[in-house]
Amino acid sequence: MSTIKRGLFITFEGPEGSGKSTQLRRIAARLREEGRTVLETAEPGGTAIGMQIRRVLLDSKNLEMRPTTELLLMFAARAQNVDEAILPALSRGEIVLCDRFTDSSLVYQGIARGLGSEVVYEVDRIACRGLVPDLTIVVDIATELGLERVHGRNRKTQHVETRIDEQAIGFHRKVRDAYLQLASDEPKRVKLVDGSRSEENVEKDVWNAVLALLN
Ligand code: TYD
Repeated sequence: MSTIKRGLFITFEGPEGSGKSTQLRRIAARLREEGRTVLETAEPGGTAIGMQIRRVLLDSKNLEMRPTTELLLMFAARAQNVDEAILPALSRGEIVLCDRFTDSSLVYQGIARGLGSEVVYEVDRIACRGLVPDLTIVVDIATELGLERVHGRNRKTQHVETRIDEQAIGFHRKVRDAYLQLASDEPKRVKLVDGSRSEENVEKDVWNAVLALLN
């Protein structure tokens, strides 16, 4: 399938515990209230094959995983999602909301793991074939606050998909800084919102960014 598309592709990004997934769900509900057809998807995952790859990626026991393996598995799941779900929905004219996309690989594997952004964009060319989000919302959160939220959540649910969010705090600081840098490098596509406020207040900013795109 070619990458010619008619719908809108919006991605949600941010460090651990930023609240981006909650915002995605809220925006999906609002768009549906307005009569839009919305596909909600998430990475790594999104498809049945992607979910199998996700288990390998996030299993807290897989401590020997190398950065390049991590990068290629992220993009393997993404290639499947792009081809099986995202491009077909866009060609039907739908709005696709994706929880994390290539910017996550840029920030986590390219910068925090140190593989470099060029490597990430090279693999992106193969896996995504030119698909770039029309809008990317980065929900920003201070590293300590974000990790506090996530660790609380992991304890409550005895979550095992924790290999990446259990990285040292220095790793997560690099992630946050890289998102801030991305937002300042690409101000047209990437909108930064402050995730430390109430869900309602964050949603107002996110919704305004989405409305600006729709209009
Ligand atoms: P997930 O449980 O979906 O958490 P979150 O709510 O933070 O999205 O875990 C996804 C983890 O995978 C998260 O730690 C970020 C990481 N990740 C990457 O390192 N690179 C990527 O390309 C993607 C999509 C995710």
